[in-house]
Amino acid sequence: MSKVSIIGAGFVGSTVAHWAMISGGCQIVLLDVVDGLAKGKVLDLIQSGPIAGHAIDAIGTTDYADTADSEIVIVTAGVARKPGMTREDLVSINAGIVRDVVQRVVEKSPNAILIMMTNPLDTMTYLAHQVSGLPRERVIGQAGVLDGGRMKTFIAMETGISPENIHTTVLGGHGDEMVPLVRYSTIAGMPLTYFLSQEQIDHIVARTRDGGAEIVRYLKTGSAYYAPGASACKMAQAIIRNQHHIYPASVYLQGEYGLNDICFGVPVVLGKNGIERIIEIDLDEEEKTMMRKSADLIRSTMAHLGQPAHS
Ligand code: 2OP
Repeated sequence: MSKVSIIGAGFVGSTVAHWAMISGGCQIVLLDVVDGLAKGKVLDLIQSGPIAGHAIDAIGTTDYADTADSEIVIVTAGVARKPGMTREDLVSINAGIVRDVVQRVVEKSPNAILIMMTNPLDTMTYLAHQVSGLPRERVIGQAGVLDGGRMKTFIAMETGISPENIHTTVLGGHGDEMVPLVRYSTIAGMPLTYFLSQEQIDHIVARTRDGGAEIVRYLKTGSAYYAPGASACKMAQAIIRNQHHIYPASVYLQGEYGLNDICFGVPVVLGKNGIERIIEIDLDEEEKTMMRKSADLIRSTMAHLGQPAHS
């Protein structure tokens, strides 16, 4: 059984634990610095097992020693945004949290693969890569699965076609300048334009970009967690089960897509060692411009990291 530690037992962390229980095949450690929070949530989760028919091996803790030798560590720790805030507004407070968490995690699990979920996602993934000293294959930001899932949902809503037939590709940063690629999104292999007008497609792209903020506006006190939790879990399962699955994920780039020294959402193959391959797809001029704009937004956020990212 693979040991998966989840850092942060807020809505996102506890929902990741819930999805992980449903997916099965892993031993779950849920950690939160707030005394009792992770313990209480895990006890509740364990008690749901016999009712819902899921076996679960989980503990809640405040002690990083319990995370030792994890195969995967999913980092959700940090504050979520409130209405009117962008993900980028969270940078200074969450950078301090991520620095501390990643150092502690890696000390106990030097062979782990990190899946980052804290916002601003690409900047926090970059920070985790620098602080951890882990190879880029093992520091992976979760964003494209979520954004692609949202786009899929909106296409299904607009066309009435099963989401199972819909494939989407959303690259770039997990921010307002994310890059939903219409040309690389299909319905049963057919182009979106076969089913949707340009106006409908534009609306879907805009709603995908605004997907997280739309939920923040409804919730008022926090951000989404069911879909983010399911997304991280999908990525963890691809690693645990060595599925060689292609997902978009934020990864440290070294020249791919013309970008260097930045974590950015690109298609990757995920297997037991983390990122097995980065896939570079052909982009037209308009798509390249969107990617550049998205990278510029990340770089402006990275500028607020405050101090050198290197530990
Ligand atoms: C979202 O897009 C929280 O960033 C996350 O909902």
